[in-house]
Amino acid sequence: MKVVFFSGAGMSAESGIGTFRDKGGLWENHRIEDVATPEAWKRNPDLVTEFYNLRRKKIIETEPNKAHFAIAQLENIIDVHVITQNIDDLHERAGSKKVLHLHGNIKYAKSSGPNQDKKYYLLKNWNLTKHDLCDEGYRLRPHVVSFGESVPAFDEAAEIIKNADIFIVIGTSLQVYPAAGLIQYANNAKTKILVDPNANSINGIDDFKVYSNTATEGVLLAINEIKKI
Ligand code: APR
Repeated sequence: MKVVFFSGAGMSAESGIGTFRDKGGLWENHRIEDVATPEAWKRNPDLVTEFYNLRRKKIIETEPNKAHFAIAQLENIIDVHVITQNIDDLHERAGSKKVLHLHGNIKYAKSSGPNQDKKYYLLKNWNLTKHDLCDEGYRLRPHVVSFGESVPAFDEAAEIIKNADIFIVIGTSLQVYPAAGLIQYANNAKTKILVDPNANSINGIDDFKVYSNTATEGVLLAINEIKKI
């Protein structure tokens, strides 16, 4: 029996990392075109680097929450995969072993030249600078998938979700594609659960059992339910 969790920004909200599209969210205070597109990097790589440096610093200062820990502990009794849209490493820090990042991992950098997804460079501290270069001499950019870029981990994620017996979606507005389209691959899952306090504003989840709770409450409810299966 395999359980697959698919998490978004709401997963880490109770750790103190703001979401993107809620009131007061990150995209209310920053223009996506300025910091999260390939054109933004071309125009002003310093601004993009600084934006993600601040994200990285904040993430390093936060801790996994009860929901991250509950998912990690579930590995003691069942095969658990985590697919996350989050660039934080809170699932890993809680102890989850099989975590796939769809949109990158803020603790790493990658080349801004060709072959960007050939190698990821673990950063020693939160501060990436313009003097940090890849092996081929190009400036390093944050290991984050920008809007308009392909999602290299998509096919692997789809394959994992196809084989899920239980599929649990947590804290994502399901507005960003291709990631949001991954829920279509959960055809073999006998149980599908969605945890989100604003679940009523999310589309395309008719065949999901919904918990309109925060991650820390809802993940415990979902786990209790699957322990009965
Ligand atoms: N617990 C669970 N869910 C929560 C909580 C909470 N405490 N607080 C908010 N949420 C929910 C919101 O109701 C919303 O549905 O989390 C979701 C967050 O949605 P978004 O801000 O759109 O984040 P996400 O879906 O992860 O964004 C997808 O967009 O900009 C990008 O690349 C970025 O990976 C990100 C992608």
